[in-house]
Amino acid sequence: MSKKIKELTTPSFLVDLDVLENNINMYQELADKNGVDLYPMLKTHKSSFITKMQIDKGAKGVLVGTLDEAESVILKSGVTKVMLAYPVIGESNLERVISLSNLCDLYVAFDNEIPAKALSERLKDQKIKFQIIINSGLNRFGVLPEKAVELYNNLKKYSNLEFKGISTHTGQVYGFGKSEVGKITDQEIYSMVTAKKLLIDAGAEVEFVATGTTPTFEKAIKSLDINISRPGNYVFFDAIQVALGAATEEDCSLTVLATVISHPTEDLFILDCGSKCLGLDQGAHGNSLTKGFGIVKDHPELTIVGLSEEVAKVKKEGLTALKIGDKVEIIPNHSCSAANMTSYLIGHRNGNVEKIIDVDIRGNSRKIDLN
Ligand SMILES: Cc1ncc(COP(=O)(O)O)c(C=O)c1O
Repeated sequence: MSKKIKELTTPSFLVDLDVLENNINMYQELADKNGVDLYPMLKTHKSSFITKMQIDKGAKGVLVGTLDEAESVILKSGVTKVMLAYPVIGESNLERVISLSNLCDLYVAFDNEIPAKALSERLKDQKIKFQIIINSGLNRFGVLPEKAVELYNNLKKYSNLEFKGISTHTGQVYGFGKSEVGKITDQEIYSMVTAKKLLIDAGAEVEFVATGTTPTFEKAIKSLDINISRPGNYVFFDAIQVALGAATEEDCSLTVLATVISHPTEDLFILDCGSKCLGLDQGAHGNSLTKGFGIVKDHPELTIVGLSEEVAKVKKEGLTALKIGDKVEIIPNHSCSAANMTSYLIGHRNGNVEKIIDVDIRGNSRKIDLN
């Protein structure tokens, strides 16, 4: 007989497999219905097993945040189309990009000429496809839509770099509340439609327009101009997505199991999971979208008011049956940060442990050769 999750040691990172599958199916079906290719961002789970689940359901490729993710996922899950989310520069990093391009259908990303020139010089006869990153309001990477043509024209001289499309990520949504999600999605669509039109007018062939942010996904994919979506967080969701209205608590597949280890005062409990399990995120850009540092499932009377590295301080408002030795499940505020804190997740259905899922495409997948 399989182990029950409540029998597990704590802290443990749990994934409800029914909910995970449901999230993967839901986003894939929405993408299919709208004629959009899904390229899930892997930084959320950093797992080759979950990548395979996404590809098996119909994802066309993947988006990676790091070269480590790209190298490991190609080896471990047989993915063939890989997009890099961010520009890459530096001799050893560019060598890795070139090696990757021999292993898969690779799309690099540029928002200025310097990395393009450096890559082009190292490539010689080989060709690599690229996307131009558009700034749709996050003000991190990217050129403004009106500047896309200027960069496109500057990159034309590198004949071994092939322009294929444009991409963006409206991460600013995590710095605002639920009421702003629609407006930010409109900004996402408007920026990309503007950049696409200007590029086409300038003679560019724009094969793809890629966006992707979990809270804006559903509305953005309805735009006829967007043909690739690259959301990440939707596989797990989390307390921030609940606060933004992108998910309900029942949609959150990742939880951290913890034990009450102390009850120092009438209204205070201490759990054996801290910032090294849950992370300290509460939103973005200094804005806090959540009440506390995670949702204690089935205990609306509890708020996680503070985290030390290995323990959480939980305050109760009202009555609770909680006592020392009890176990609780916590939905992290930001599941992408939480999943990165463990080397494996424990997959379960209805509380019965079913499968260990390795977090096996994280950083440090490749040790440097000292010789
Ligand atoms: C470039 C890019 N695209 C897509 C995503 C996925 O966003 P989300 O996790 O909100 O779905 C991210 C997240 O960091 C990103 O940086």
